[in-house]
Amino acid sequence: QLRAGTITTVGAVVLDIGNPFFTEVARGVEDRLAEDDFTLMLASSDEDPARESRYLKLFEEHGVQGVLVVPSSDDLDPLLEMRARGVNVVLLDATSPVPDLSSAAVNDVAGGQLAAAHLIATGHTRIAFVNGPHSIRQCRDRYAGALRAFDAAGLDARDGLVEITAPSLNADGGEAAMLSLLADPAPRPTAVFCVNDLVALGVQRTLRREGIAMPTEMAVVGYDDVNFAGELATPLTSVRQPKHQLGYRAADLLLAQHEQGDRFHHEQVQFQPELVVRASSSPG
Ligand code: RIB
Repeated sequence: QLRAGTITTVGAVVLDIGNPFFTEVARGVEDRLAEDDFTLMLASSDEDPARESRYLKLFEEHGVQGVLVVPSSDDLDPLLEMRARGVNVVLLDATSPVPDLSSAAVNDVAGGQLAAAHLIATGHTRIAFVNGPHSIRQCRDRYAGALRAFDAAGLDARDGLVEITAPSLNADGGEAAMLSLLADPAPRPTAVFCVNDLVALGVQRTLRREGIAMPTEMAVVGYDDVNFAGELATPLTSVRQPKHQLGYRAADLLLAQHEQGDRFHHEQVQFQPELVVRASSSPG
């Protein structure tokens, strides 16, 4: 029987392995762990704190050397308690609010601002934001960034930013959100910013089926810049996150913590996103 406690293993819980963003992040984790002959156990919380804690308990029972967690809620107490029991913990894709807990994240407020500022700069004043629930930190921060872009341009977001909550953070969620936007009798936005590229995939699929031209009738911007973003029939403008680097650095922090124990100095690493403009938002 293979027992994780007898080999050097790290557990990671991400929100959704089905999202290529997390697959690329996990690849970075795995590459760093492999350098030190550690192996990775990977699970999805599906944004459900109960599911997240079930996996963490399982990892702890298996005697892992540490855990990397993309938190599914703002309540970090269970993670701090886990650490107090001697398990190494690093937050992934979230910034630790406490100095003695390490984390690796990307600045999502800046990312949301980049996306909305690009759409405003290309002439859009009524922009839909297909988002997820604000209980998810990434969704909340990207929305805050979009609000900042409206403020910076001297525009009133109450008139110009139309938020729609997708029922799920994937292509089907994007499709459902887009259909509800198209059915709305209110003046139709001329651009849509999607909280991630999977959602943008569903939005694009819907626009194509409804015969709405991109970007002339509707510009589309995604988030993450996953591997398929530039390969779509209408290549997708997206906010690029350094996915591999993010995972690699988080694993690096965890291994350093494992090795140095009490001598380890906690770090909150933050990467910056970058806008990649493609045909879905650029008529030229
Ligand atoms: O799951 C929500 C989003 O958070 C992902 O698409 C990715 O952008 C992550 O940061």
